[in-house]
Amino acid sequence: MKKFNLPAVSKMRKKDFLYGVATASFQIEGAYESRLPCIWDTFCATPGKIQDSSDGKIACDHVNRWREDIDLIESLGVDAYRFSVSWPRVIKQDGNLNLEGVSFYLNLLDELNRRNIKPFVTLYHWDLPQHLEDQGGWLNRDTAYQYQLYVDLITQAFGSRVYSYATFNEPFCSAFLGYEVGVHAPGKASKEFGRKAAHHILLAHGLGMQMLCKNSPDSLNGIVLNFTPCYPVSENAADVQAADLADQYINQWYIKPIMDKAYPDILAKLPESQRPEIMPGDLDIIGQPIDFIGVNFYTRLTYSAPTKNDEFYTEHAHLEPKTDIGWEIYPQAFTDVLVRLNHLYSLPPIYITENGAAMADKIEDGEIRDLDRIAYYDAHLNAVNNAIVAGVNIQGYFAWSLMDNFEWAEGYLKRFGLVYVDYATQQRTVKHSGLAYKALLADRQV
Ligand code: NOJ
Repeated sequence: MKKFNLPAVSKMRKKDFLYGVATASFQIEGAYESRLPCIWDTFCATPGKIQDSSDGKIACDHVNRWREDIDLIESLGVDAYRFSVSWPRVIKQDGNLNLEGVSFYLNLLDELNRRNIKPFVTLYHWDLPQHLEDQGGWLNRDTAYQYQLYVDLITQAFGSRVYSYATFNEPFCSAFLGYEVGVHAPGKASKEFGRKAAHHILLAHGLGMQMLCKNSPDSLNGIVLNFTPCYPVSENAADVQAADLADQYINQWYIKPIMDKAYPDILAKLPESQRPEIMPGDLDIIGQPIDFIGVNFYTRLTYSAPTKNDEFYTEHAHLEPKTDIGWEIYPQAFTDVLVRLNHLYSLPPIYITENGAAMADKIEDGEIRDLDRIAYYDAHLNAVNNAIVAGVNIQGYFAWSLMDNFEWAEGYLKRFGLVYVDYATQQRTVKHSGLAYKALLADRQV
């Protein structure tokens, strides 16, 4: 069987470098009848939005199979499991806790802790309760305060069971994909909406951090951001500038307010109507200290100068080689972005909270010999190692994902798991990439 190659002296070969696997509530849980409807239920029910017209009603049936899934997680030998709490499962429409939903997570947390697997809990991975969307969702500033109430209640209920909390997963995706281009729930599409939603989500992050400081000061508290590094197609000054503006718009927009209490310069270049309303004090709330920053990385994008007057850049299609979801495989961008962020900001410790690849898996004689995914992980683990060697403080790495699951607008067509899921039988089979991950983790030195 193929193994991963990391230099023998790498910090990533030591026992104290943390390894985990990650999932998210809507993508695996199912059991939709025991929670409130969320924006992704509505989006899935809208014809044409999900490639295979599927939904999250059953998904991996994890709510019913969580014990078996913890066995699987444990069998990989990981130190940590990153999952998200479904807001519509734990809070009722009247704002009080839904005790049945809460006890699902309490059981999960207790069992993880019993097996010495550190719980990394994400408090928002895109499943906004639909009744809040009906009031405007992330376009409504009040949603940030509703989020704060939810965080206050759930973190009190969880007590000291959680090792690490992330307030949000990938605000860029919620704001840009959900409200600016509309390919994710709730499917709204306007520039003004995207910027507004982004500001309210960042505000909610800060308000959530206040509750974490109050209720869970001993956990590692922070946020998970995704980065898609932006490269110019040429050294031509106009292309270089276009790539820089794209980077400000899709990447720095989400980290700079948190680290520097300021939006990137591009904000001032936007027409007035597209600028979010920033109230006095907002940036102090957003920019309070965090204990860690989670970095999700999958691919890069390339840019050239805009062809229209009212645009900042032209984004190009992904180059070869690509994964099954059509994203370029370019591991050097992973090292580059980590080194660059470390240079731009005074960062807390970094955890790689997601990295992985969708591949067209085939099950043959009960095995999934996913050499392409193994090659992806191999190159990207080495890219992280190169960033560590260059002086970046990276403490851990989570593979996306534990198992195949509902890949948002792609439905069940794209498989990101280390574990294969047969959706007809819900049978789980560890892929060869999962076995390689397990071997790497088992080989570590004290
Ligand atoms: C980012 C998201 O956090 C996760 O939900 C998604 O499945 C992966 N990337 C792959 O697209």
